[in-house]
Amino acid sequence: MTSPARKAIRSLALILGVGLGLAAADVDRATAAEQIHPPRMDWSFWGPLGHYDPGQLQRGFKIYREVCSSCHALSMIAFRNLADEGGLTYSEEQAKTIAAEYQVKDPQPDDKGEFPERPGRLSDYFPSPFPNEEAARAANGGAYPPDFSTLAKARTYERGFPWFLIDIFGQYQEQGQDYIHALLNGYQEPEHGEKPPRPGLHYNRYFPGHWIAMAKPISDGQVEYTDGTPTTLEQYSKDIAAFMTWAAEPHLAARKQMGLKVMFFLIVFAGLLFYVKKSVWSGWKPETA
Ligand code: HEC
Repeated sequence: MTSPARKAIRSLALILGVGLGLAAADVDRATAAEQIHPPRMDWSFWGPLGHYDPGQLQRGFKIYREVCSSCHALSMIAFRNLADEGGLTYSEEQAKTIAAEYQVKDPQPDDKGEFPERPGRLSDYFPSPFPNEEAARAANGGAYPPDFSTLAKARTYERGFPWFLIDIFGQYQEQGQDYIHALLNGYQEPEHGEKPPRPGLHYNRYFPGHWIAMAKPISDGQVEYTDGTPTTLEQYSKDIAAFMTWAAEPHLAARKQMGLKVMFFLIVFAGLLFYVKKSVWSGWKPETA
């Protein structure tokens, strides 16, 4: 190929590259405008040594019971899980008492074929506030309050380049928790006097698209704490986010401990292999032709 042709191709590629780069940056900015990045918080369950703080989970559970449970289900958690190690660590007696405060439908039909209501037992799952999704939507202006059993893991956001690389090395996985904390603190007057696209929506700084069907669910002083922790919205939103994390991943501490053991084993094993290799090949000399 002649050199002017090469030059032409090179400049074309350069122009294309710069153009594509600018377009990508623009897309980035467009999505950034839709969702503002939540501020980062400190979480006890961050990193390879992370674990739950039972006191914090118990406070979060209290908030769930007193506030959120009138709309949000917790369908994959059973009362016996309240006594699980690495979680809220209630005693079995305490878990039994809590279960008995709930009325649940017996999963077994009685002799009339009906499912009688009775006080909850350890083996029962948390009863849902609505019988089905349609009923939940009908009570909430058409919006569905998601089940808390998976929500903390389901809500995350793109941190974009270069943060996602830093997060991989920093082991940061708490974007969902940061988001829940920010969302609960994010209710405010609409910016630039924006009007809701339909009635019944509330302006939230951190909700994607800003208009959320959930009214501000919790404010300062609403839930009483007995352990002297401040009863502020800031504290509530951290505690409920921690509780929701536990609900979505009850075995986090065990998983992290196993990860550490595996890493330790691999490091020792790599060292062993290195010395075995050295001793096996120690007498070997390359053949000279
Ligand atoms: C009166 C009913 C009601 C109560 C009480 C309530 N919520 Fe909600 N919540 C909703 C509805 C409805 C939605 C769906 C909103 C939407 O899709 O616009 C929702 C959505 C959410 C979401 C998901 C937001 C998203 O990104 O999709 C979170 C997180 C949440 N609620 C947390 C809470 C917490 C924490 C509490 C208790 C402190 C609580 N809610 C109490 C009705 C409620």
